[in-house]
Amino acid sequence: TRPFTVLGFESSADDTCAAVVTSSRQILSNVVVKQHSLHEEFGGIHPSVAIEAHQRNMPGAVRMALEQAHISIHDIDGIAFTRGPGIGGCLSVSSNAAKSLAAALNKPLVGVHHMQAHALTPLLTTPIADLPQFPFLTLLISGGHTLLLLASSLTSFRILATTADASIGRAFDKVARALGLSWGTRGPGAALEEFCRMNIEGPERLPDIQPFSVPMPGKLAFSFASLQSSVDRNISLMQEPLSTSHRIALARAFQTAAARQLCAKLTLALQKLELRDVKVRDVVVSGGVASNAFLRARLRETLDGYNPDERISLHFPPPELCTDTDNAAMIAWSSMHRFLAGDYDDYTVELRAKWSI
Ligand code: KG4
Ligand code: ZN
Repeated sequence: TRPFTVLGFESSADDTCAAVVTSSRQILSNVVVKQHSLHEEFGGIHPSVAIEAHQRNMPGAVRMALEQAHISIHDIDGIAFTRGPGIGGCLSVSSNAAKSLAAALNKPLVGVHHMQAHALTPLLTTPIADLPQFPFLTLLISGGHTLLLLASSLTSFRILATTADASIGRAFDKVARALGLSWGTRGPGAALEEFCRMNIEGPERLPDIQPFSVPMPGKLAFSFASLQSSVDRNISLMQEPLSTSHRIALARAFQTAAARQLCAKLTLALQKLELRDVKVRDVVVSGGVASNAFLRARLRETLDGYNPDERISLHFPPPELCTDTDNAAMIAWSSMHRFLAGDYDDYTVELRAKWSI
């Protein structure tokens, strides 16, 4: 039989997204229109600017998603959208588009929880041969999120940890800026990673920098603003202009501390879960920051050392599915089990800007 085909919408924050995904795990299209640059001057997402951009970009995104999937809207079986959580006005752009389209075409509709979609994404992005088994952990590290999620089944999830302040991606971006790195083509985070690999030639030695400690060591919550301020404090103590060796040493201190924090919190989460008899077999690490090879290697060492008798598998989705963390493919995918079960939402379904998982 023909797979079930879903058109998904997402606009909970600053990306305008539309995608077509099938029940046989095919991503037929995945369109993400970024508006990051519009918000840079505000130092965060400016709601009315974001809403306007979503309204401007959504029609084109949907058109493109259908064209790239080579599918007519009449061959779409169901329509999914992000019901929450997120910025109310931003959510309403997807919601209105999805509801009106579904009603006009008389197609079933499903509203999806954004965080549940993140938690279920590994079932879409991991090769079928080593699909994660419930319960599994997702460590989502990007510009928008720093999250540790537990998925126990298709319908039960927990957010184990989130960041108390800045996201890990924004911290990489800010430290790259503070160290005056040129961003290259792959962006500030990747530029910082590359800079850490630079070797100093000649007699100059890298200065010693006191390692930055793991913030809130007994807690699962992340904090990356604290690492940023450690870098800033070190810069203010050094003589300007900073020498290249000082900048490399600081970049490495930051990246090492970021890795140590991720590893420490992940280990703590596994221990806490074990105390409650929850045995995690798979950990999936995704998000733009997950493309960092240094972080990957440290996470691998940590998990390999965690319990050598019962290895936990570590998965990194392919790079093209690691970046564009917020996308509509995950929304379409997370709606699938409900469509297949005939569990639809009414066309009057309301948004949930605040929605616990
Ligand atoms: O998931 P993503 O592409 O999009 C959003 O979150 O919007 O993540 C982007 C973030 C940026 O902060 C970027 O600097 C960071 O991921 N990033 C990296 C690396 N590549 C991208 N951070 C550290 N190391 C990298 N290699
Ligand atoms: Zn997200």
